[in-house]
Amino acid sequence: MAKFFALKNFTALSDLHPNMANLKIIGIVIGKTDVKGFPDRKNIGSERYTFSFTIRDSPNHFVNVSSWGSEDYIRSLSDNFKVGECVIIENPLIQRKETEREERFSPATPSNYKLLLSENHSMVKVCSPYEVDTKLLSLIHLPVKESRDYYSLADIVANGHSLDGRIINVLAAVRSVGEPKYFTTSDRRKGQRCEVKLFDETEPSFTMTCWDNESILLAQSWMARETVIFASDVRINFNKFQNCMAATVISKTIITVNPDTPEANILLNFIRENKETSIADEIDSYLKESVNLNTIVNVYTVEQLKGKALENEGKVDPFYGILYAYISTLNIDDETTKVVRNRCSSCGYIVNDASNTCTICSKDSSRSRSFCLSFDVLVDLTDHTGTLRSCSLSGSVAEETLGCTINEFLTMTSEQKTKLKWQLLLERSKIYLKLILSHRARGGLKVTILSCKLADPIEASRDLAGQGHT
Ligand SMILES: *[C@@H]1O[C@H](CO)[C@@H](O)[C@H](O)[C@H]1NC(C)=O
Ligand SMILES: *[C@@H]1O[C@H](CO)[C@@H](O)[C@H](O)[C@H]1NC(C)=O
Ligand SMILES: *[C@@H]1O[C@H](CO)[C@@H](O)[C@H](O)[C@H]1NC(C)=O
Repeated sequence: MAKFFALKNFTALSDLHPNMANLKIIGIVIGKTDVKGFPDRKNIGSERYTFSFTIRDSPNHFVNVSSWGSEDYIRSLSDNFKVGECVIIENPLIQRKETEREERFSPATPSNYKLLLSENHSMVKVCSPYEVDTKLLSLIHLPVKESRDYYSLADIVANGHSLDGRIINVLAAVRSVGEPKYFTTSDRRKGQRCEVKLFDETEPSFTMTCWDNESILLAQSWMARETVIFASDVRINFNKFQNCMAATVISKTIITVNPDTPEANILLNFIRENKETSIADEIDSYLKESVNLNTIVNVYTVEQLKGKALENEGKVDPFYGILYAYISTLNIDDETTKVVRNRCSSCGYIVNDASNTCTICSKDSSRSRSFCLSFDVLVDLTDHTGTLRSCSLSGSVAEETLGCTINEFLTMTSEQKTKLKWQLLLERSKIYLKLILSHRARGGLKVTILSCKLADPIEASRDLAGQGHT
């Protein structure tokens, strides 16, 4: 049976002071840099190697540990453990930290000290998670910054150039993790790069780039649309080529995966709720809904649909229904409202106009992608009991309802668009709907139109009369 490493048998990081002898500490590794080689000034022609990492043993205490030495020693030390593992360090050298200069390049640590490992005197032992105090393991889910101290992605986008070059914290969910790319620079140094797409309640896609193997390795363990990260001290830049704001993981950055904070839990709930719906929905409505309309038979009034939304609170499955109503708002002739959006033709997802890449397909760079324009209109539906606002009418369903293709629509004058609008407005229609409960949507209900055709007056009155029995 393995020995249990209780925290009380080690010196706490909060108690460190210089000249301590026979020091033994334990901590969980929360950050780690790549191994780097530098020309040795004392030994012209040879190189010295270094890497550093950050360990933590309590919510408020973490310290930066670095080591210098031969390539063999440094590489074997670094290969021994990764972020998230616990290590015991014996006999490190304790040094006072030169705050300002060092914190430009390393994580800002609350301790006044930093540790140095020497090949001849210090020892690093990796412990199995079964051997250590669970209190230590749980620290990996605690951000190193105050849990509310972060920017939402929309804040970053809204602040734009004023955040260019700034170092800030970000809380976001992972939308996708790209393949790591390896390359050689013009001065023959090896490099690597990995793009992670983030999202949150406020922004559907935001790029964060990793340039070092340690953060790329960490990112490869993240699950698209499941992992939430708190990235402390990432650098924000304006990307001139894509004309958008983006984040970069730097040597100061510490990324906490699935942080255990109230803010992160709210975000986690948001992504769970939207996991099946948001993306699948947009793709479905583009590729024409896979639902067979003949299977939808229940007729509702607007009032009944709103009531059903209250009844079904907490459920995630969509429900379907038929509504006899008329379109009461249809802003297709208003220049200020966007009714046409770019979609990826391979998956149907909406493409950000600025970036011009599909966030869903971006992982697959071998396939050449094209984008096509598609209707994406929000309409209001009204009957004698009330109004359902902002129902989505998009893709081929919109083309059928409006009676024109997207290309025909784009060539219309605004007078022709107004005429088209008035042909449809206030006409009694039979409308097939898909409804999903969503806290984000207006009225708590996200409504997608699956079909909208002029109603047969006789059928409509018969169905409405019998609707209490469905
Ligand atoms: C730790 O500190 C050293 C300088 O003493 C710095 O080079 C390194 O980047 C820091 N990083 C980490 C992750 O500890
Ligand atoms: C470590 O010990 C070896 C042999 O005892 C010695 O040659 C070397 O200089 C020492 N290295 C350091 C960094 O003190
Ligand atoms: C990063 O990983 C690649 C592939 O394993 C390797 O070729 C490269 O040398 C590594 N770079 C660093 C700085 O460790």
